[in-house]
Amino acid sequence: MNFKACAFLLAAITLAGIAAPVTNHVLANENTVVARQSDMKSMAEAATLIDGMFKGTTSYDSELFKAAAESIYKRSGSALVAHFEGNPVIFGSKASSTIMSQREKFDSLANDLGVYASSLSSAAQRHPDALTQDMRMKAGDVIGLGPFGKKTDPAKAVLSMPAEHAFHMLLQTCTSCHAKYRLKTD
Ligand code: HEC
Repeated sequence: MNFKACAFLLAAITLAGIAAPVTNHVLANENTVVARQSDMKSMAEAATLIDGMFKGTTSYDSELFKAAAESIYKRSGSALVAHFEGNPVIFGSKASSTIMSQREKFDSLANDLGVYASSLSSAAQRHPDALTQDMRMKAGDVIGLGPFGKKTDPAKAVLSMPAEHAFHMLLQTCTSCHAKYRLKTD
């Protein structure tokens, strides 16, 4: 091997050594975005299924209802938060940098989601045969705000909420988080 070829080979090896971690990093970021977007899509599917049962467009099946609630539950809280750790602003992602500047509120929305999802799961467990009247929202139920517009603690409030109300609160949690932490599509 002459000197030129040797130098070339050395350069190639050095370059490969530098390039590899960069590529891994890009790949890891891509995987993060794919994983979290795919979790979000699964939650949307689960929410659509539950919505259909409340609307009566799909017949009530407590097992499917429960599975859907649990599908959201296991993607909420710390699982959701973990998808957006560090700098969540990555190419191909709609995550907003607000997640970094206002992380506490983001985490609390992720936890609220789990509170509502878990309450829906136990509602299905308690109602194996039919979506009964006590699962329905009552006239005058206010979504989002407690008496006098005071925000109540979701973990406490959910205990006295019919399932349909908890479901509306769950959807509102999706919407609140997106409004603040997801970049607009266009
Ligand atoms: C705590 C915040 C938070 C909550 C709660 C939340 N999301 Fe998201 N969601 C996001 C963020 C941030 C993105 C953008 C992720 C990205 O592009 O990397 C997103 C993206 C999405 C997407 C688009 C995924 C794609 O393919 O690009 C869907 C659909 C979605 N969410 C549905 C839901 C549903 C349904 C719920 C409630 C059951 C929910 N989300 C709850 C923060 C949240």
